[in-house]
Amino acid sequence: MNKLDGKSLDIISQNVEKLKDLFPEVFSEDKINFEKLKEELGSFTDKENERYNFTWNGKQEAKRIAQTPSTGTLRPCKEDSKNWDTTQNLYIEGDNLEVLKLLQKSYHKKVKMIYIDPPYNTGKDFVYKDNFRDNIKNYMEQTGQIDSDGNRLSTNSDTNGRYHSDWLSMMYPRLKLARNLLKDNGVIFISIDEVEYSKLRSLCDEIFGETNHIADLVWQNKKGGGNDSKHIAVEHEYVLIYAKYEVKLHSFFEPYKPEYLKRYKEEDNTGLFFWDTFKRKSGKQYYSIECPDGTILENDELGNPISWLRSEDRFLEDKKIGDVRFFKTKDSWNIHFKQRLPEGKKPRSIFLEESILNSQGTTSDGSSELLNLFKKNIFQNPKPSSLIKHFMTFIVNKDELILDFFSGSGTTAHSVMNLNLDDNSNRKYICVQLPENLDDSLIKAIGPTKATIQSAIEFLEESQKPHFITEIGKERIRRAGDKIKEDNPDKDLSSLDIGFKVYKLDSSNIKEWDSDFDNLETSLLDAVDNIKSDRTSQDLLYEILLKYGLDLTLPIEEKTIEGKTVYNIGFGALVVCLDDNITIEVVEAIAEFIKEQVVYDEEKKKRHARVVFKDKSFADTNVKTNAIQVLKQFDIDEVVSI
Ligand SMILES: C[S@@+](CC[C@H](N)C(=O)[O-])C[C@H]1O[C@@H](n2cnc3c(N)ncnc32)[C@H](O)[C@@H]1O
Repeated sequence: MNKLDGKSLDIISQNVEKLKDLFPEVFSEDKINFEKLKEELGSFTDKENERYNFTWNGKQEAKRIAQTPSTGTLRPCKEDSKNWDTTQNLYIEGDNLEVLKLLQKSYHKKVKMIYIDPPYNTGKDFVYKDNFRDNIKNYMEQTGQIDSDGNRLSTNSDTNGRYHSDWLSMMYPRLKLARNLLKDNGVIFISIDEVEYSKLRSLCDEIFGETNHIADLVWQNKKGGGNDSKHIAVEHEYVLIYAKYEVKLHSFFEPYKPEYLKRYKEEDNTGLFFWDTFKRKSGKQYYSIECPDGTILENDELGNPISWLRSEDRFLEDKKIGDVRFFKTKDSWNIHFKQRLPEGKKPRSIFLEESILNSQGTTSDGSSELLNLFKKNIFQNPKPSSLIKHFMTFIVNKDELILDFFSGSGTTAHSVMNLNLDDNSNRKYICVQLPENLDDSLIKAIGPTKATIQSAIEFLEESQKPHFITEIGKERIRRAGDKIKEDNPDKDLSSLDIGFKVYKLDSSNIKEWDSDFDNLETSLLDAVDNIKSDRTSQDLLYEILLKYGLDLTLPIEEKTIEGKTVYNIGFGALVVCLDDNITIEVVEAIAEFIKEQVVYDEEKKKRHARVVFKDKSFADTNVKTNAIQVLKQFDIDEVVSI
């Protein structure tokens, strides 16, 4: 029986496979001959010794970190979730680097839009420190989940000699992995202020490619105050936009405001329009037009030639299809044409606070939203949900997936629910957030941030919840969803998804998959019983889903077959039984069940189904060998054990 591969996607091997596909001739004994590769690339090879290069102290290490597969897993947490059985949304607690690695198989090219609002590296915010050797253990230490040598989350102060380098090293692997999750026509929006703007721009040019840069938006995030600034009171931030492949990205359009649409009162088969005057005060299109009674319109009352809005050819075409009308005035004729609603409005690069019609909110609107839900100020500088919602309207269709892997108070989730409410649709989100330990954060915080963290801790204490930011994020999404329903009693919101499934990052459930770098000898001894004693079947089940690259929101049917619990995923495509004492009768009954569910592929001569058992579940090796034979007789494609 084959063993299930326990590692998250190996990015280097994946790249090598892509290269093999393109240039099979440069591979010999599975190694790349770079001289041959250069020959294949001909004049595109750069022969200069000096070239433009963006680098920093630690870049090589950051690259290595991006390429190292994760040894962790995501454990389901139904207690913290909302509408577990029906929701398509995910809330994942953990360091986003490990989480992004774990999502590589299941969400490769599945995400339409990523929005992130990372720590701005102001010197007061936390910048997570990755550890190449054992990042899961490092994560447990940094979030205070296991003891460490005082190596908890630390602020990246601007007196640290590697201030920018550390931040870039943190961002590089995350952006690199996030790009893999974008659809080919996907896009990323990144909020940043002027501290790291220029570095982030260079970093993104490298990771996404300069040609995929769409624009840098300027968002007026606050107004007034700032008189204590030394030179200039800065009232804006940036939002960098990059496409995965610019050529594949659809044009951005902003939806029209109701005020704008008011003019377009008429409608025909082509769409909305209003009748507009064809004659213009000035222009370049001069020609004569014959009216229904033979009158020729060519010169105005003063004898000057009349200028028309459109070319003569276009006018004649429009007349033929009824898009032009003539009507008689007292002594002449007026001509009208159908002014049609353009496909969409082009978004502008500057979002000003004062333009009431276009306001996408300010940071203080973000704070008011949270205040409204919690009656307390419990998160410093959340984004307004209207801003992220506005970005989504440019591009995200009605059932697509949005990812935010620095989700903070959960604003992106709130924005997705609000937009789904507006256009009655079904966009889904994945929010990732570090369980940042607020007690630790409080010690290092200063100014208004200290008071906000203090309030958050008080709130969590009253609610008897652990002092983690993730508790704030989840509660915000729960409250925001309930409020949307409460505020709209007249709408049928039965299909609005206000739920979310919670998963938590942890070390693998399976001992061999969780290589303990410091303690290899005990790890090998432990492997005799390879499942960790504190893990449940549900934990194992979702780890199997991840390793197979399946969606974490897939419905799972739980059945009892011959007294054993069996999980049926995708109508027999994956059947998992994690109970002990598996007998041959159980295997036969499972095989019969698959036979009913999965049709026989005449061409391939098999049933496309996978069956997973625990390695230690079989009474003895005889039963195991027989089990493989039985499943073969039923033409089942793949049998593996963990
Ligand atoms: C600027 S805040 C995001 C605020 C969010 N846009 C909002 O509106 O609430 C950045 C968040 O990223 C989180 N964070 C920092 N490092 C992280 C990591 N390695 N993994 C996941 N989250 C992280 C921080 O805890 C913080 O809450």
